[in-house]
Amino acid sequence: MELTAATTLTALWAVSAYYFWQRDKLPKHQPAAPAASATDTARVLIAYASQSGQARELATEYARQLVAPPGNPASRIDLRCLSQLAPEDLAQYQQVFLHASTYGQGQAPDTAKAFCRALSAVADNHFKTGSMQFAVLALGDRAYPDFCAFGHWLHQQLLRLAGEPLADCIEVDRLDSGALRHWQGILEASFDCQLALAPKSFRYRLTDRRLLNPGSQNARLFWLQLEAVNDSGTTQHPQPGDLIDIHLTNGERRSYSLANAPAQYGPAQIELIVRQHYRDDRTPGYASHYLSERVDAGSQIKVSLRRGFDWSLIPAHCPLLLIGAGSGLAGVRAGLQARQQQPLSTNWLIFGERDPVYDRPCEAELMHYLELGVLSRCDRVWSQAAQKAPLRYVQDVLRSEATQLTAYLLQGGYIYVCGSADGLGAGVHDALLELLGESVVSTLQAQGRYVRDIY
Ligand SMILES: Cc1cc2nc3c(=O)[nH]c(=O)nc-3n(C[C@H](O)[C@H](O)[C@H](O)COP(=O)(O)OP(=O)(O)OC[C@H]3O[C@@H](n4cnc5c(N)ncnc54)[C@H](O)[C@@H]3O)c2cc1C
Ligand SMILES: Cc1cc2nc3c(=O)[nH]c(=O)nc-3n(C[C@H](O)[C@H](O)[C@H](O)COP(=O)(O)O)c2cc1C
Repeated sequence: MELTAATTLTALWAVSAYYFWQRDKLPKHQPAAPAASATDTARVLIAYASQSGQARELATEYARQLVAPPGNPASRIDLRCLSQLAPEDLAQYQQVFLHASTYGQGQAPDTAKAFCRALSAVADNHFKTGSMQFAVLALGDRAYPDFCAFGHWLHQQLLRLAGEPLADCIEVDRLDSGALRHWQGILEASFDCQLALAPKSFRYRLTDRRLLNPGSQNARLFWLQLEAVNDSGTTQHPQPGDLIDIHLTNGERRSYSLANAPAQYGPAQIELIVRQHYRDDRTPGYASHYLSERVDAGSQIKVSLRRGFDWSLIPAHCPLLLIGAGSGLAGVRAGLQARQQQPLSTNWLIFGERDPVYDRPCEAELMHYLELGVLSRCDRVWSQAAQKAPLRYVQDVLRSEATQLTAYLLQGGYIYVCGSADGLGAGVHDALLELLGESVVSTLQAQGRYVRDIY
């Protein structure tokens, strides 16, 4: 069903009204930060635009270390997500250091999109010449054609506004340590200090592994359980929404979404849901096969944790629509376990898989959530269902349930999407644009109410 223009406008109004009503209550990393006033003492800005947390973690760690040396009092440095800033705010800083990841196909992370639109609209030479120095660290992956495109775009925009570059835009391919050292050198020169960046990794032991889709002709999907090794100095407790970086023996890393909400006490146990990946030439992907076949129970694996979406940010009274497909069950499952702690919450799951007979991962668990009322509604679809089946993809469900979707959003609802970027991420995004219109979708993104863990 399509929404009429009037319904869409009502939805927009409600989304905006809800935002302004909630603004003062917005949580830690999505606050509606008041624009800094001219009398503010902070003169250096460390900012980030991050989708899955790497740029945020780097910026946070640099800001933490930079405030420590004598002569750099905390009041000189502000740490902000771009979603908390308006372009005009930059003018009050003498120096701006931006950590910017590229997403989609050469695009900005979701939370930075509103800032970018506003930045494009600022007139040329906005800053007084020489009044604002800047540097951009562009995070990306050379496997993508638009390598570090968003970082380069930001750099060009700040040049256009007459910002003074402290260096060329620095490209970082998959957190390459050489490029990060170069960036640290720029920060050290500006702050006259020494920085250390030692990524913390911990050892976890594989304790259990199960195939979730036995008999399926599709790529095999596994559930894995790992337990922190006691003496490995685990100080960071995993939380639902976190991303787990697996350090491979060849020095590479791969990210996986945490698939559970680990208990707060006792040894940290993490669960993953891993789909065996095959490359275009049909050779098996390295990490997914390592985790699902080559590593034996009892073996130790080096991992690091990254903070992803913080599930505690969703108020219990706001309904939640979870959308996932395939290995995206990982983030969905962690989210459901987190929401289970909020007894009266309303949660609706739309989940897609391939074969309706064999690809039914964690079915009993999902049915149990329905019985318990943790899930108020669960729609499952299969892409390999009979050709005439009316609904085969999650976005088909969204389109047919547009009224329910609007009702959720009018109550301040959140949307969480987890799974592949091309299939699920793009399909859901297009459906939302079609049903709600671009301004509602971007408002939801800016408010942190449309969250995507897509890859
Ligand atoms: C935020 C995020 C969350 C994810 N969550 C999950 C999940 O919960 N479950 C799941 O099954 N998958 C998840 N993935 C996908 C996962 O990280 C792997 O990409 C997937 O398992 C295939 O990896 P592979 O090593 O088997 O395949 P490969 O083909 O060996 O590698 C796949 C990709 O890894 C990258 N890569 C290649 N070489 C290198 C290198 N030298 N150094 C670093 N990276 C390199 C490239 O982008 C490549 O396309 C997630 C990805 C991201 C980004
Ligand atoms: C779905 C997806 C799309 C991406 N698109 C690009 C891209 O177009 N160009 C690029 O250089 N890197 C791209 N990357 C790589 C990320 O920029 C890189 O992994 C970065 O370190 C992520 O940082 P973040 O965790 O701060 O978001 C993409 C990664 C994913 C998962």
